[in-house]
Amino acid sequence: MAKLTVRDLDVKGKRVFLRVDYNVPMEEKDGKMIINDSTRIVETVPTLKLLIEKGGRLILTAHLGRPKGKREASMSLAPVAVKLSELLGKPVKFVDDCIGEKVESAVAAMKDGEVTLLENVRYYNEEEANDPGFAEKLAKVADVYVNDAFGAAHRAHASTEGVARIVTRRGGKAAAGLLMERELKFLGDELENPARPFVVILGGAKVSDKIKVIDRLLEKADTILIGGAMAYTFKLAHGVKTGKSLIEPDHKGTALAAEAKAKTLKVNFQLPTDTIIATPVDTGKLNKKGKPVYDLTNIRTVSGDIPDDAEGFSIGPETAANYAGIISSAKTVLWNGPMGMFEDARFAAGTNAVAQAVVDATQKNGAKSIIGGGDSVKALNKAGLGDKVTFMSTGGGASLEFLEGAVLPGVAALSEK
Ligand code: 3PG
Repeated sequence: MAKLTVRDLDVKGKRVFLRVDYNVPMEEKDGKMIINDSTRIVETVPTLKLLIEKGGRLILTAHLGRPKGKREASMSLAPVAVKLSELLGKPVKFVDDCIGEKVESAVAAMKDGEVTLLENVRYYNEEEANDPGFAEKLAKVADVYVNDAFGAAHRAHASTEGVARIVTRRGGKAAAGLLMERELKFLGDELENPARPFVVILGGAKVSDKIKVIDRLLEKADTILIGGAMAYTFKLAHGVKTGKSLIEPDHKGTALAAEAKAKTLKVNFQLPTDTIIATPVDTGKLNKKGKPVYDLTNIRTVSGDIPDDAEGFSIGPETAANYAGIISSAKTVLWNGPMGMFEDARFAAGTNAVAQAVVDATQKNGAKSIIGGGDSVKALNKAGLGDKVTFMSTGGGASLEFLEGAVLPGVAALSEK
């Protein structure tokens, strides 16, 4: 059954407890925290505007980082309130706590259509523990609950799950925001009966991280294209030498089972035919995290074994051209995970070729292109192509779990229509 959304709500004069995912990348510059990417804030604006128009009093709750119950100044949401106010073109009051007297009096003073952002809910350990008493404290200012935090919907935390349950138990409504609705539509409904050919591109580091998604999508896709370091475990399973590449020897069987399932289901399952490799040389230096820094030397392309002293960093040009051809003629494309270490320009060509092909499929072939969050979104944005696809998820872990077919606790707690 479909979930209730903000469109269905009457919020005039009501206190709307709105969970958003404002876990945005920040860095310190001249003693101030600067937001590096505001996408997650921007994407909630339609929900906020609709609720403001309807006369709700919006109390926004979010987390930032993983402060583990401590008041980490670098993880304060204060800079987000400034950004949000700019985006909405109206004041956003910031309260430096998320429960208690300060919050209650600030909310009591709110008028219809006003917006208040509360401080990082993870300053309390009880948030992640989904502590019922803490959820009650949060819910003190909630007449209605709205969840627009798709990116955090895989967490059964107090603000993503507990408060929704309390509000509905009291007879109130718990609804999805417009961003949540879009995420569920594109990552869910749109992939149920996709226009064909349906091409799935899966990359990333580990087979073990992606196997559930591969397994589920094998049931739906016409073609699955594999890239990223995950491909090396498949190669290993076929007896190809992988040198120093990232591999999961324990998952050779998993990889072969996926290929066997593809064969049974007649899915065109493709592995890279060439790889860009480099020889890592220890510089003797350590990075900020205390890990050794390597120079990547002798960058070259191989089509078979990777020498013992070398490591794979991306799909090669032949694979990129082959994948691009397949993607360009798709009618539905789902992309999750880069094809290599795209952050380094020397290994970005394969991922960029795939990004361009996804855009071409969308723009020239009328395909629906859905980007499953995390690094693939970063890669598209880095290539300047972010606005040329149909949908980019704001979820990382959440989109992966949802694509695996998991029921997300933050979604399950919402009221049915
Ligand atoms: C994310 O960035 O993926 C979400 O905000 C969830 O954050 P978390 O992994 O710290 O729960």
